[in-house]
Amino acid sequence: MSTPTTMKGWFAYEATADPTAAVSGMKWVDMPVPACGPKQMLVKTTYAAINPIDWKMLMPVYQEMFPCTFPYVPGFDASGVVIAVGAEVTKFSLGDEICVDLGVKETCGPGHDVPAGGAFAEYFVTQEELTSKKPPSISFEHAAALPLAGMTSLQALVDQGSLQPGQKVLVLGGSSATGTYAIQLAKNCLGASETWTTASSNLTPAGSTKIDFCKALGAEVIDYKRANWWEVLAGKDFDLIYDCVGTPTDVAEASKVLKKGGIFVTIANFAAVASGDFTVKPLLVSSVAADCDKLLAWAVQGKITIPVDSVIGVEAVKDGLLKSIKMSDVSGKVVVKF
Ligand SMILES: NC(=O)c1ccc[n+]([C@@H]2O[C@H](COP(=O)([O-])OP(=O)(O)OC[C@H]3O[C@@H](n4cnc5c(N)ncnc54)[C@H](OP(=O)(O)O)[C@@H]3O)[C@@H](O)[C@H]2O)c1
Repeated sequence: MSTPTTMKGWFAYEATADPTAAVSGMKWVDMPVPACGPKQMLVKTTYAAINPIDWKMLMPVYQEMFPCTFPYVPGFDASGVVIAVGAEVTKFSLGDEICVDLGVKETCGPGHDVPAGGAFAEYFVTQEELTSKKPPSISFEHAAALPLAGMTSLQALVDQGSLQPGQKVLVLGGSSATGTYAIQLAKNCLGASETWTTASSNLTPAGSTKIDFCKALGAEVIDYKRANWWEVLAGKDFDLIYDCVGTPTDVAEASKVLKKGGIFVTIANFAAVASGDFTVKPLLVSSVAADCDKLLAWAVQGKITIPVDSVIGVEAVKDGLLKSIKMSDVSGKVVVKF
C-alpha cells in the first residue's frame, strides 16, 4: 500500500478564553498527511479518545505553557495500524496495531520535530519511544481510551503519591475517566487497603448512578452533593488524596483527613498550596510507553476495565468536545471511531 499524501482531519484555528467558541470553530478539512521522521511512524487511525486537555489546549492560558502553531489537529489519545516506519525505527513494523498518548509535553511547545497532538485525523505520526503495541485481546476502541487518563492516574498514585500496599487513598472525582482508573489501580493493582471516592447520583449512560458505578469499581463512595468528604472522613488518616476535580477549596480541607506527612496529588489545580502538615504535588502527565504497557497488561489480566462512556463518529468530534466541556455529562471515555 502506498503512503497517502492527503487526508481529512479536524483543524482548530484559534485559542479563545471561551473554549466552546474555539471548539465550535473547528473544521473537518483536507490537509497533507504529516511527514514521518526517522524515529517516527505513520499510523492509520482506528479510534481516538477525547480528553479535557483537547479543549483546554484551545485556551490562551494553556497556549502560554504549551504553544501550538495554528491551525493544528487536536487530540492525544489514539489507536491504529502502522502504515509507514522511519529508517531508525526498530521495535515496530508495517501492520503493527498500536496505541499511544501522543503527549502534551512531548508534542506541544518548542523543540519538537512532530506536529502538536494530531489524533483527530485519518492518519497521525507517532514517536516510536512513546508508542505501545496493542495486545490482541484489547479492542482498538479500548486501546484508544486507556493511555492518557490511565497513565495520569498511574503516575499520580505511584510516581507522585508513592502509594504502598496497605495504605489508604481518597480519590476526588471517582466517576471521571482518571478517577475510574485510579480506583481500579489502587484496589486491584497497588494493594491499597481502603479506596474511597466522591461521586454524585447523576446517571451514567448505562443508567446507573455514578455512586453505584464507582462502587462497582471497588470504591467506598461519598455523595459529594449531599455531604462534605472532609467531614465524613475526618480523622481517617489517609496516606494519599488524589484530586481529579480541582475544586480550589478542597486543598484547604485536606489536612482534616490526611495523616501527618500525607500527600495531596492534584491533576486539576496547579495553584494548590498545602495548608497543613502534608505535601501538595501537582502533576502533568508524561507519555511513557512503559507505563502504558503496564496498564495494557493489567487490562489483559482483567485487573482494570476500560470505561467507555460512548462511541461517536468522526463527524461528531466537536459534539464530544462540547460534552467534555460540560464535565457532568460524561462517565468514562468518549471514543471516536474513524
Ligand atoms: N494534569 C494532567 O496531566 C491531567 C491529565 C488528565 C486529566 N486532567 C484533568 O483532570 C480532570 C479530570 O479529567 P478526566 O478526563 O478524568 O475528566 P472527565 O472524565 O471528563 O470527568 C467528568 C466526571 O467528573 C465528575 N465530577 C465533576 N465535578 C465533580 C466533583 N465536584 N466531585 C466529584 N466528581 C465530579 C462528573 O460527574 P458529576 O455528574 O457528578 O458531575 C463526571 O462524571 C480535568 O480537569 C482534566 O483536565 C489532568
